[in-house]
Amino acid sequence: MILHTLINENALKNRIKELAQQIQNDFKNEEIIIICILKGSIFFTTELAKNISSSIILDFMKVSSYNGTQSTGKLNFSLDISQNIKNKNVIIVEDIIDTGRTLYYLKKYFNEKSPKALKICTLLDKKERREFNIEPDYTGFDIPDKFVVGFGLDYNEKYRNLPFIGYLE
Ligand code: IMP
Ligand code: MG
Repeated sequence: MILHTLINENALKNRIKELAQQIQNDFKNEEIIIICILKGSIFFTTELAKNISSSIILDFMKVSSYNGTQSTGKLNFSLDISQNIKNKNVIIVEDIIDTGRTLYYLKKYFNEKSPKALKICTLLDKKERREFNIEPDYTGFDIPDKFVVGFGLDYNEKYRNLPFIGYLE
């Protein structure tokens, strides 16, 4: 397999800065609970959070539906958030939306907890793969239907530490 670059480090940095600015403006400097969906969103979440100057609270949730390059169809919840999100501004931060299954169920799950606002922020969106009706509020990049790795995204747990987004062929 060969690794090609899809989005370089600089492009990632600049785009994430823009997203952070947009989020800050939309929430008018009110406090935001940022929920990082582990493990893939860890790099994106930290970069995003560093660029938001209003008050934020970080929380984490672990959920997965993937095995290798194929969605397994089942969601595994292995870590839940620790904050009470009732009446709070909440942003779910995802690395990538593919079929939309993960976020479809996560959104439902969080909405039942009655947040004041619930937004979805994804670094990458593979729109053509969508099977579930889910639209992100903030998107870093729309990408083609390729299996991507790096900047948190893995292939069987490898490549997460690449500072750029690449694809395997
Ligand atoms: P969905 O539930 O089908 O939208 O899949 C979302 C999850 O699948 C993401 O949070 C990723 O963990 C994983 N995923 C989907 N596409 C890719 C990819 O191209 N590379 C790495 N992980 C991916
Ligand atoms: Mg993920």
